[in-house]
Amino acid sequence: MRIGIFGFGTVGQGLLQILREKKSGIEVAAVVDRSFQRKSELLRGIKASADKDLILKDSSIDTVVELMGGIDDALYVVRTALDNGKNVVTANKALLAEHGYSLFQLAERNGRIICYEAAIAGAIPIVRNIEAVFRNERITRLMGIVNGTTNYILTRMRKDRMPYGDVLEAAQKSGLAEADPTLDVGGYDAQQKLALLVSLVTGKWVEAKNIQVRGITEVTQQDMQWAERFANRIRLVAEYDFIDNQHFMHVTPALVSEKNVLYDIEYENNAILFHGEYSGEHLFMGKGAGKFPTAFSVYSDLLHLQSENTKLRLEYDGSYLAIGDIAQTSSAFYLRLRVKDQPGVLAAIAQILGNCALSIASVHQDHSAAIQGEVDVVIHTHAAKRSAFYTALQEIQKLKSIVLHQIYLPVL
Ligand SMILES: NC(=O)c1ccc[n+]([C@@H]2O[C@H](COP(=O)([O-])OP(=O)(O)OC[C@H]3O[C@@H](n4cnc5c(N)ncnc54)[C@H](OP(=O)(O)O)[C@@H]3O)[C@@H](O)[C@H]2O)c1
Repeated sequence: MRIGIFGFGTVGQGLLQILREKKSGIEVAAVVDRSFQRKSELLRGIKASADKDLILKDSSIDTVVELMGGIDDALYVVRTALDNGKNVVTANKALLAEHGYSLFQLAERNGRIICYEAAIAGAIPIVRNIEAVFRNERITRLMGIVNGTTNYILTRMRKDRMPYGDVLEAAQKSGLAEADPTLDVGGYDAQQKLALLVSLVTGKWVEAKNIQVRGITEVTQQDMQWAERFANRIRLVAEYDFIDNQHFMHVTPALVSEKNVLYDIEYENNAILFHGEYSGEHLFMGKGAGKFPTAFSVYSDLLHLQSENTKLRLEYDGSYLAIGDIAQTSSAFYLRLRVKDQPGVLAAIAQILGNCALSIASVHQDHSAAIQGEVDVVIHTHAAKRSAFYTALQEIQKLKSIVLHQIYLPVL
């Protein structure tokens, strides 16, 4: 196998080191990187250029590894590689979430293969396991922590009692969060990965932009502490459910109880829990990112291609998946309201919840923490249709004179 690597950054350099150490018979024929000159010491004699044709026009290269990130150039590279008869390995979830549908069709037409184990949850071998082991199993439920940056932020907020902004800044300084963190903290990276995961388990393409998403920016230190009082933790969860022949999915911050395995997934770790119709519960846990964990997934894709055992890949049936309205599913909720500390507030809120057929599991108010006549009310509801809960929220919002701020989280 002769490969050409596009992008010689964190993952590209990790991959080269693994390939050198493993002596796997995979030859790195060339590297394309826009700043290859700065990296010549690490390349140690491997042909390199900023010119993409160095790899794309070399017919002796059978496999292209795309590790540049971004969309436009990566799309050009992957398309041209497939058109020139090369297989592709990529770690680029953003590219696949946006253009996977057409790229997989192109690969199919050209009899080539795209491998993308590293694109979903870094080192966790979820893609190949679903393709090979669970290929004829119906996955009825999937729940995951698939973004390491947000899990790191939420973990440190809880453990170090630091506010969101301070933890984000620390994560940016240590390289765990991007300078522009929107993709991670807004939940969009998890949304892209969920789209790929659900495409994988259903065999139909899911458009990431159609998946409802909420990020973690609203989560405060108060919520962390309220969660702890009830032995819950806050996680950014990507969730999929197959109910009554419909596919429901979303990305949301959620309270997870200590009985839930996601409770113990800390810092930048990732985990994917799923339920198979016949096989039951499965949990995959591991490093969701990082130089070597991610590069190892790329390396394992290369070994997979080398083994020629590639008929085990899933075939997509060429259509988009219809996504059900998540509001029609049920959940219990945590609702924290900042209210005026005065009589009648709780009664007004309880009335609205009751009118929307929401049953209250518990109500908590900490008068000792009242500041300037304002206090937090925390309500846990029993499971009910999300649509009923959203209607109640709209009604509660109208109580502007007594309810000053609200945040809600589903409880898993
Ligand atoms: N890092 C992780 O833990 C991780 C985990 C899972 C998936 N991934 C995915 O892996 C891919 C690579 O990530 P990374 O962390 O290795 O990124 P990175 O460190 O920024 O490396 C990207 C490399 O590609 C070069 N490059 C970028 N755009 C280029 C272009 N248009 N033409 C030529 N060279 C270009 C960059 O050059 P400069 O040095 O000049 O910028 C850099 O050397 C991304 O798709 C990412 O989402 C990464």
